Amino acid sequence: MLLLTIESSCDETSAAVVRDGRQVLSNIVASQIETHARFGGVVPELASRCHTESMVLVINQALAEAGVDINQIEGIGVTRGPGLIGALLVGLSAAKAIAYAKNIPLVGLHHMEGHILAAQLETNIDYPFLALAVSGGHTHLYRVDGIGCYSILAQTRDDAAGEAFDKVAKLLGLGYPGGVQIDRMAAQGNPQAIEFPRPMKHKGLDFSFSGIKTAVRNYLVGHQDDPDFNMDDVAASFQEAVVEVLCYKTMKAADEQSLDRIVVCGGVACNSGLRRRMQALADKKGKHVVFPSPALCADNAAMLAVAADHYLTLKSERSLSMNAVAGWGLDVAGRELSG
Ligand code: KG4
Ligand code: ZN
Repeated sequence: MLLLTIESSCDETSAAVVRDGRQVLSNIVASQIETHARFGGVVPELASRCHTESMVLVINQALAEAGVDINQIEGIGVTRGPGLIGALLVGLSAAKAIAYAKNIPLVGLHHMEGHILAAQLETNIDYPFLALAVSGGHTHLYRVDGIGCYSILAQTRDDAAGEAFDKVAKLLGLGYPGGVQIDRMAAQGNPQAIEFPRPMKHKGLDFSFSGIKTAVRNYLVGHQDDPDFNMDDVAASFQEAVVEVLCYKTMKAADEQSLDRIVVCGGVACNSGLRRRMQALADKKGKHVVFPSPALCADNAAMLAVAADHYLTLKSERSLSMNAVAGWGLDVAGRELSG
């Protein structure tokens, strides 16, 4: 099946053309970073406006790059939630319009389902597996027994991992988005220089990151006049604390669930420290860990195609009256679409 997929849940407008939920013919991403950077974070109303301006251009570019005419498209997958409601509505409205005009089926998908299945576009991963989904809005551990079969094992009690990276970057006076800049600075610093807390490391599987952020703020206040103050060390030590907790809990969950396959996905899965540490631990424990390539870790439309192809083949399409959902559990979304 030749599918068009559309993603607009946050600050990237993206459209992709994918064959059989596998072969990516195009994956266009229009970033809004420049628009939001001067405000230090995503401004929801500006995000909606940018999506409105870019959506048709991005869809046309995806079709052109794939060498596909819109009349050849056999189905559409679109992010239905969670995300910024105004931003979601732009993608959903475009998807509905095309589905109606061309009389083709449409499926509305959970954003994190896209992230979790993105790795399947590059390599075949057998089910079941453990997924660590780490992005700006999510820090979740899922047991994945198949497409549509997701059990939440853990989540963050406060900030998401990406949110913590972005907030600490702001404290350090770095621009938005901050994760990638902390990653770069951390490479120059000493991760053992400052002992930031590892919140909830030994308490169950849930995560908590707001305490690390506060510890960084307190450290900065206390060391304003310290001649030995080193920003790279702060970035490296902060990243070390987050990465240690993420890796520790992921391995704990994998052991508890007797799972040998692990997928790490979402924007924070681009982090080089996380990739390095998780790979080393997996090698030591004889587990197989997969990271999608960076372009498929960040928000993009191609990642939706694996689930879209599956649900449309099952005929789990959605009526044109479906609405966007700002908050939506992945376990619930999977059950709804699996019927
Ligand atoms: O999945 P994503 O692109 O969008 C959401 O669904 O939220 O994730 C964005 C998050 C941001 O918080 C960003 O700072 C973080 O991923 N991020 C990183 C890196 N690249 C992106 N965090 C740490 N290290 C990176 N290299
Ligand atoms: Zn995302």
